[in-house]
Amino acid sequence: MFKDRSLPGAKKVIRDYCTKVVDLKYIDRDVLVSMETDIDEISPRMVLIVTGKKSAKENGSYKMLESILTVNSISHFLFDEVEQNPSISTVFKCVEQFQKETSLEKPDLIFAIGGGSPLDCAKAIDFAFCGVRDFTDKDDQPSQPLIPYFCIPTTAGTGSEITPYSILTNPRTKTKFGTAQRLTPTCSYIFPSFLVETPLQITASTVFDAISHLVEAGLTVKATPEVRLEALSGIRLLSPYIPQICAACSAVKSYNEGRCDGLERIKPFLSKLKNESFRLNTLHASSVGGVVISKAGTSLPHGLGYSLTTHLGLSHGVANAATFSKYLAFCCRTLGPQARDFVFDVLDILLRDCVKAGSVPKWKPEDLDKYLINIWFDHPIAVTRAQKEIFVSAALANKGKLAQHGAPVTKADIEEMLFGSGFLKVE
Ligand SMILES: [Fe+2]
Repeated sequence: MFKDRSLPGAKKVIRDYCTKVVDLKYIDRDVLVSMETDIDEISPRMVLIVTGKKSAKENGSYKMLESILTVNSISHFLFDEVEQNPSISTVFKCVEQFQKETSLEKPDLIFAIGGGSPLDCAKAIDFAFCGVRDFTDKDDQPSQPLIPYFCIPTTAGTGSEITPYSILTNPRTKTKFGTAQRLTPTCSYIFPSFLVETPLQITASTVFDAISHLVEAGLTVKATPEVRLEALSGIRLLSPYIPQICAACSAVKSYNEGRCDGLERIKPFLSKLKNESFRLNTLHASSVGGVVISKAGTSLPHGLGYSLTTHLGLSHGVANAATFSKYLAFCCRTLGPQARDFVFDVLDILLRDCVKAGSVPKWKPEDLDKYLINIWFDHPIAVTRAQKEIFVSAALANKGKLAQHGAPVTKADIEEMLFGSGFLKVE
């Protein structure tokens, strides 16, 4: 079992990775000054800003960047049409719109603002400007140097601000996939202030995405003792907030069901989410998640969750959560003692503040459902038999994710992970 003092600090994990491994500038202090300097170094004439439809405008991040560019007499083209789970066609739509409206072949700098969707989509847009046409083909590589890519994450969970990954959706097959091409950002800027108004449900879901990255990376075939320690340092950053997030979710649920008589009663729970140090810690935990999945990848919950997102509309974090405790139980059954110890360390760090002092149980993976994951599932989500077949077949066809688990995975194992917790129910 780990000793807390042996864990590396989360910020050290991020800095070591960014400076020693990927040459990424990760800025979380004096952010504005650094950003202006970095933009100045590129001396762009035209910047492409990639965002989702609303949040970058609502949280002030777009306005801030726009002001910096305007003051420095730099033109920009805003593409604000990135949808949740962006499709391949959105990537090419952006390139087409940019070229048509600016009469330029490509921008000098791409700046993505938002959650995982805009950040991932902008990476693929960079490749598309540089000649890539098929995002599933490893041999289709850019024919010219990539455009510098800066980003501001405005959700905490995806880790895209650090990873080289980009996840797109094929609208024809309704499948999500990681692009064959990889691009680590040139610079990432961390502004917790842009997250303070993020709604509770999105906060909770994205935090679970970070948790799933941190945990899955520690359980793949590529996991090393170093990756596990790094992952635990990220989980430790999040653990003090788990009881608060659960309490806020349950207060909102009571209010929505008429069991709480006024909005005033739930405000104290929600006001905690506006705390900037809470937001900064979630951003750092997300980035540590990015570090560990860059080293060891994700595993079965991500492979299973993609279908739940495209077919049932579950957000990415909630889709991962639906299968998570049964995945951990499966790891305990099929992997070695190091993986088992890691699972129990994870459960202890995540859940120790959820129970009253003196009553700490010997954790079981299913306790995650009881103390945390139930916040998303008031009732089981109905799944048809046809959908069940699609989910199971997609999981079995995803050889890359199956290979990430260090033991054979059968159809029955997949079904147990999908339906064993009872959050999804076949009708
Ligand atoms: Fe994820």
